[in-house]
Amino acid sequence: MDLALSASPFFQIWLLLAITSPSLIYSLWSDGTAPAEMKTDGVVQTFSGRKQSLIEDARRERGSAGGGGGSAASPGPSRYGDGFVFEEKDGRVTVNVLFALSSEKNAGFFKTGKIFETFEAKLLHIESRAGRKCKNSTMDLEFFMKCEVHSSDLDVFVNSLKRVADDVRCMPEEKVPWFPRQIKDLDRCNMLITKFDPDMDHDHPGYNDPEYRKRRTVISELAFRYKQGDPLPVVEYTAEEISTWRQVYQQLRSIYPSLACKQFLDGLQQLEKECGYGEDRIPQLQEVSAFLKERTGFQLRPVAGLLSARDFLASLAFRVFQCTQYIRHSSAPMHSPEPDCCHELLGHIPMLADKEFAQFSQEIGLASLGASDEDIEKLSTLYWFTVEFGLCKQNGAVKAYGAGLLSSYGELVYALSNEPEYKPFAPEETAVQPYQDQTYQPVYFVSESFEDAKMKLRKYSANIKRPFTVRYDPFTCSVEVLDQPSKIQNALSQMREDLKTLHSALEKLSSS
Ligand SMILES: [Fe+2]
Repeated sequence: MDLALSASPFFQIWLLLAITSPSLIYSLWSDGTAPAEMKTDGVVQTFSGRKQSLIEDARRERGSAGGGGGSAASPGPSRYGDGFVFEEKDGRVTVNVLFALSSEKNAGFFKTGKIFETFEAKLLHIESRAGRKCKNSTMDLEFFMKCEVHSSDLDVFVNSLKRVADDVRCMPEEKVPWFPRQIKDLDRCNMLITKFDPDMDHDHPGYNDPEYRKRRTVISELAFRYKQGDPLPVVEYTAEEISTWRQVYQQLRSIYPSLACKQFLDGLQQLEKECGYGEDRIPQLQEVSAFLKERTGFQLRPVAGLLSARDFLASLAFRVFQCTQYIRHSSAPMHSPEPDCCHELLGHIPMLADKEFAQFSQEIGLASLGASDEDIEKLSTLYWFTVEFGLCKQNGAVKAYGAGLLSSYGELVYALSNEPEYKPFAPEETAVQPYQDQTYQPVYFVSESFEDAKMKLRKYSANIKRPFTVRYDPFTCSVEVLDQPSKIQNALSQMREDLKTLHSALEKLSSS
């Protein structure tokens, strides 16, 4: 579909097609290359595996992008003027332009073409579809054009288009997918993967239980309504749900001391002492979030199910963990095809109370922001083999720190037996390791320590190709794109102040 054509002659042919046969042009749109802003927002489905898989989701995401530069999982705002979103070469920039033309303004087609000709805009790609504002009308069209213009002409070019067309927007190149900049943007990171939903998945233990499905709908609604900053919803768990929790808690708790890593055991002990963890009640997100916030700055937000890889990883960048509140079906307390509160509260939360691990998790999230779909797939795989199924060395023994292991009695025992293969954690190798979603992993990656894993991950992330670097600002809970010298200067100033504090502390220590 990518065409390198000069504006004038091609534009005439294209206009003729658009006017005489909008459906022909519309068909060009449906090849999977539509810009992110134009994608239908909502629920997607993915593969038919039996376990949650961020990796497979990321692979699907990449596949649907046609192997191109990347389809953002979430629609993003127009970022005209952000600077880094345009590719510049030899004084010319590549820009994606969207605009609408109404049926009353057929003359607008020709005026638009004239503007492209006047500014020597080189068309690289064009698509059209029926307008969103007047879906019943076949005459109203929206256009997407990728073109090259002189960078000095860009403002005037766009303003000229605004005079003859409606709803003119400039979009970033797809190779920089939209990502959240502020914590409130996480309200838009909500793309769910519904294949494992009990309403959709025939193999789900709750599929034939209408009461369970109804209950799930009620709890999902709490997550759908949640906005950043709202109080976390409270779920009044039923006696049956608490009974399921008790079975899981008792069985796993009995093997944690010998198989879980020290950081997990410390975290769980604190949660039991200070946050009401125990077999008799399911902890509420509100109290767990407050507990984590005090220790590592992590906080929770409710989610209705399995999220897309891009959205889930993005939330980690803000030290936000998206957490389900429903519980698995009572008929299968030792198995859940999807994440549930047992997996989150027992597998993930104790580890997120550890500062080193919290930092490790956030760094995976930061590396994912604006990454290509290919890199999201690799980061998801790294997440899979560390945060979900990771092992680490401690005092000469191998222990579990992955939540997928620490919330699964069977796999936890298996992973620390003599059966599976162990490999040292090496991000380049781990990121492309085939994983197992039908049964236990055939191979587990063992980290020397979290510090070691963090350093290796940092090195790996530095090689991810992005035309910018991001930095998290804990004061404003926002992500800053360091794309201007002034921003780097500000970051350095803050760093100098921190160094002064450390220097002062060292002086006081040495003089005492
Ligand atoms: Fe998980």
